[in-house]
Amino acid sequence: MRYESIPNNIFQNNRKNFISKMEPNTIAIITSNDVKHNNADDVMGFAQNNDLFYLSGIDQEDTILVLYPDAYKEENRAILFVKETNEQIKIWDGEKLTKEQATEVSGIQRVAWIQDFEMALQYMAFEADGFYLGHNEHLKRVTKDQETQQDRMIQWCKEKYPLHDYYRAAKITRDLRPIKSEEEILLMQKAVNISIESFKRVLKTCKPDIKEYELEAELTYNLIKSGATRHAFKPIVASGINACALHYNTNDAICKDDDMILLDFGVCYANYNSDTTRCFPVNGKFTKRQKEVYLSVLYCLKEGSKLLKPGVLPVDYEKSMATLVENELIKLGLLNAREVADQDPKKPLYKKYFMHGTAHHIGLDVHDVGLYSRALEAGMVLTCEPGIYIPEEGIGCRLENDYLITTQGNINLTEAMPIEIKEIEALMNN
Ligand code: GLY
Ligand code: MN
Ligand code: MN
Repeated sequence: MRYESIPNNIFQNNRKNFISKMEPNTIAIITSNDVKHNNADDVMGFAQNNDLFYLSGIDQEDTILVLYPDAYKEENRAILFVKETNEQIKIWDGEKLTKEQATEVSGIQRVAWIQDFEMALQYMAFEADGFYLGHNEHLKRVTKDQETQQDRMIQWCKEKYPLHDYYRAAKITRDLRPIKSEEEILLMQKAVNISIESFKRVLKTCKPDIKEYELEAELTYNLIKSGATRHAFKPIVASGINACALHYNTNDAICKDDDMILLDFGVCYANYNSDTTRCFPVNGKFTKRQKEVYLSVLYCLKEGSKLLKPGVLPVDYEKSMATLVENELIKLGLLNAREVADQDPKKPLYKKYFMHGTAHHIGLDVHDVGLYSRALEAGMVLTCEPGIYIPEEGIGCRLENDYLITTQGNINLTEAMPIEIKEIEALMNN
């Protein structure tokens, strides 16, 4: 792995917490993700099933984790099934984890080859009453007609053991994963730190007539050089009016003098992510209007992020943020105060210039799992990302930081990423 090895006590603790929420005498089966291919046999890349990573630390395909905490035989209480290598795999792909390495990574003593999974399970299923199976239940899931390994496991298991009880592993991880351990926060901070360096490189490189993708290249260069695995998502390098398309990511335009650039990017380090947005002028000097819009968004970020603290319901936070942005839109002359006072609350006028949510959990997924009906708690990490988009002026501005909720309020993990106008202009002009 490119990242430094992670102490396996993280995964041991995660398993302990997961097990404590299982029904008595049940078996949890969590599979890895498939390796994704292009049209032919070249590989697009591998991203682990985050629930499997969370419970084992194993970052390899063809892996199955089986947890049976109430098993009569101690050896059946946790088993990790991994891919057995052979001469062909060695020739084409190189090394795979040995059993000893899999134990070292995960802290699981019993490691077996994946071809022995069915028989091992058969012995355990006879004794058990039910199964927990993994499934992607993410609220933003986009898998359409792609069948996953988890889908295949559900089908296989229900066919083979139709009379057992079935439970959702994702319901447990959805409750556990939002609360980050100290070790997880360190990994997220590492991702953030790489992002900060990347942003500074972009500021130094940016100049009129540069292509958006040349700035993307600075991000890519720095994250790879720093041992990160990949971009957390395809970076958005949007100059001028492109910043008003929320998911713009073709990054193929020329950055024009006097335009402002919106840069929304993240780093995935050891499977943990950062997600940050900054805006800056192509030529190193904000125009009067860019400054006004920027300062409005910055004000909303500073005020709104104070609401990210224990006990606050995400829905209340979003309402407060909407009011903050609405007031700024009036000050910027984009909305009329009287019309706002008379507006239909179901169709608020601010939606014309501000149309997205402004906080999401972040962790192993950029939009991490977690119920939005749950009040904020210490240990959660959320983004705060207000924005104002004015296509008729060719200005789109969003600012995004990542905050760790603490018992005292929150800590801005992205504090060191330049955000004040003076800092940005100074970095661009020195
Ligand atoms: N870049 C995705 C987001 O900000 O949520
Ligand atoms: Mn975000
Ligand atoms: Mn973002």
